[in-house]
Amino acid sequence: MAKMGTSSRVAAAIVVVLGLVSSLAVVCNGGKTSSFVRKVEKTVDMPLDSDVFKVPPGYNAPQQVHITQGDQLGKAVIVSWVTVEEPGSNTVLYWSAYSKKQKSEGKVTTYKFYNYTSGYIHHTTIRNLKFNTKYYYVVGIGHTERQFWFITPPEVGPDVPYTFGLIGDLGQSFDSNKTLTHYELNPQKGQAVLFVGDLSYADNYPNHDNVRWDTWGRFTERSVAYQPWIWTAGNHEIDFAPEIGETKPFKPYTHRYHVPYKASGSTAPFWYSIKRASAYIIVLSSYSAYGKYTPQYKWLEQELPKVNRSETPWLIVLMHSPWYNSYTTHYMEGETMRVMYEPLFVKYKVDVVFAGHVHAYERSERISNVAYNIVNGICIPVKDQSAPVYITIGDGGNLEGLATNMTEPQPAYSAYREASFGHATFDIKNRTHAYYGWHRNQDGYAVTADSMWFFNRYHHPVDDSTSAQ
Ligand SMILES: *[C@@H]1O[C@H](CO)[C@@H](O)[C@H](O)[C@H]1NC(C)=O
Ligand SMILES: *[C@@H]1O[C@H](CO)[C@@H](O)[C@H](O)[C@H]1NC(C)=O
Ligand SMILES: *[C@@H]1O[C@H](CO)[C@@H](O)[C@H](O)[C@H]1NC(C)=O
Ligand SMILES: *[C@@H]1O[C@H](CO)[C@@H](O)[C@H](O)[C@H]1NC(C)=O
Ligand SMILES: *[C@@H]1O[C@H](CO)[C@@H](O)[C@H](O)[C@H]1NC(C)=O
Ligand SMILES: [Fe+2]
Repeated sequence: MAKMGTSSRVAAAIVVVLGLVSSLAVVCNGGKTSSFVRKVEKTVDMPLDSDVFKVPPGYNAPQQVHITQGDQLGKAVIVSWVTVEEPGSNTVLYWSAYSKKQKSEGKVTTYKFYNYTSGYIHHTTIRNLKFNTKYYYVVGIGHTERQFWFITPPEVGPDVPYTFGLIGDLGQSFDSNKTLTHYELNPQKGQAVLFVGDLSYADNYPNHDNVRWDTWGRFTERSVAYQPWIWTAGNHEIDFAPEIGETKPFKPYTHRYHVPYKASGSTAPFWYSIKRASAYIIVLSSYSAYGKYTPQYKWLEQELPKVNRSETPWLIVLMHSPWYNSYTTHYMEGETMRVMYEPLFVKYKVDVVFAGHVHAYERSERISNVAYNIVNGICIPVKDQSAPVYITIGDGGNLEGLATNMTEPQPAYSAYREASFGHATFDIKNRTHAYYGWHRNQDGYAVTADSMWFFNRYHHPVDDSTSAQ
């Protein structure tokens, strides 16, 4: 440990010297690389008999209960669950303090993956809910019933406060459990999770053992049965395994996790949008075609002009593979998509982009790199007040462990980076201000290890940079 400390201090000294002697201020002289040097411990998955994976008692009891937004405005919820013994009922019974009990019918599906056969996966959308209302719901009608609740978001509007949680690359290790616990106990109280991809990591097991999709569903139920998680597809959702005859990408993911993509005119569940409170959230797919003329491109091109910032001031984009990443892991993997879409993000003044994939934390300055035209040589990121802040929040704690190796020196666009597991919250106050905080798992629940006041790019485009100069 002492040795590591010394070498990192030497590295820091080199960075400072480079920063002083070099005129390439844009390339080096970056923000803060946290002084936390994590001991690289093995991150291990929780064993199958762990408390968090316990099967609920009772015949055909619903398990892996999860909810997500079910329409574009937040008046519908998709309720999903799995039954094992028999299909049972697709009915959700629900009510609020102000309404009598109502029923909604859904559908059941199953799938096979190599020699695994799934349980009965139920998806039922409940619609025409009242905004800002607590609903109770029951699944498992006819056999073992289980009751949960959720609170619908307030009606979409420009000054509606709302707090989003941010989790990425969660997996199901002991560290994943710590991340989830820290999110649950964060006094900032997230009301919905923006999940930036890589859910179960079942594909790291022999034959992508889909039992680990089931355990992940049971592990996360304690949060996602009560508040919606907004899903983004990561590379660990692809489950492409031709060596065992599994050639249809995203098979387990699309059977288990439904999203309201049709409501935003999308033709595939990998890219879509929702409005929630004062935010407009666009979910993109790093692992679907995004070149010009592709379905995703055409959708995004038509989608961005639809965003009415007088109605939803906050424009948030989720994707899995980050465009700005100064760790050596997955270095520049997001580059081709950045080249395709970054000019649109600047034109439409996206406030913030959340990504995962890199198992660490990083926050950028507001920068863009859109001047380059193949011959002009203008190809370095520059400060740009119309550009989003890019945040990598792939530090959920999965079994692959932390990405600790960073490019040196820290590029100027990188405001803060640290290889620790954690989660973040994005706390919208009104149309001009949002408070963002990153929480590392080693700290107390209320501690923000990195934070920033976001000024809205449309209503309050004042420099909100956290850097000293
Ligand atoms: C699937 O096959 C693997 C070996 O190929 C075996 O270990 C496992 O038990 C099988 N699972 C089922 C559900 O048959
Ligand atoms: C997971 O975290 C919860 C809440 O802190 C705790 O009750 C449970 O024992 C933990 N399980 C494991 C396997 O770490
Ligand atoms: C944008 O939203 C505002 C506030 O809801 C509304 O008054 C206005 O008509 C909308 N503009 C368009 C073009 O729909
Ligand atoms: C660590 O990063 C440096 C660049 O800063 C790179 O040259 C080296 O190969 C990386 N090491 C590993 C183990 O990835
Ligand atoms: C918006 O929220 C910020 C931070 O809480 C506050 O300082 C500001 O006065 C609010 N603006 C309005 C118009 O209420
Ligand atoms: Fe990933």
